[in-house]
Amino acid sequence: MITELDHVGIAVADLEAAVEHYRRTLGLEPVHRERVEDQGVEEVLFAVGTSYVQLLGALGPETPVGRFLASRGPGVHHVAYRVEDVAAALERLRAEGVPLVDEVPRPGSRGTRIAFVHPKGMGGVLVELVQEG
Ligand code: CO
Repeated sequence: MITELDHVGIAVADLEAAVEHYRRTLGLEPVHRERVEDQGVEEVLFAVGTSYVQLLGALGPETPVGRFLASRGPGVHHVAYRVEDVAAALERLRAEGVPLVDEVPRPGSRGTRIAFVHPKGMGGVLVELVQEG
């Protein structure tokens, strides 16, 4: 069902400063930047092999990432797995009794289809499923 690790999502307080930090310290260059209104984030992707590191800046305090930053501070926000068929993956998780954030797939960045799985079903880790567009 899972083909690769798609990305690790990291919540940051200052997106520009974080991008510069990743550039300077890890030598990574951003490959994609997108404002995803639906999720209340601006994201920057760095390619690492066939996967990405995704820095997430909140578009406001009353967004999921804004609330995450306020309660837990900057840090790892979610782990995203690449799947061939996100609807089929959701079906399997539902059958296993895993609580879902998204009952059906929705549009993600880069033209992908995504769905979030609730952290209470995954040992406290917010999991995202990503299907390439
Ligand atoms: Co993500």
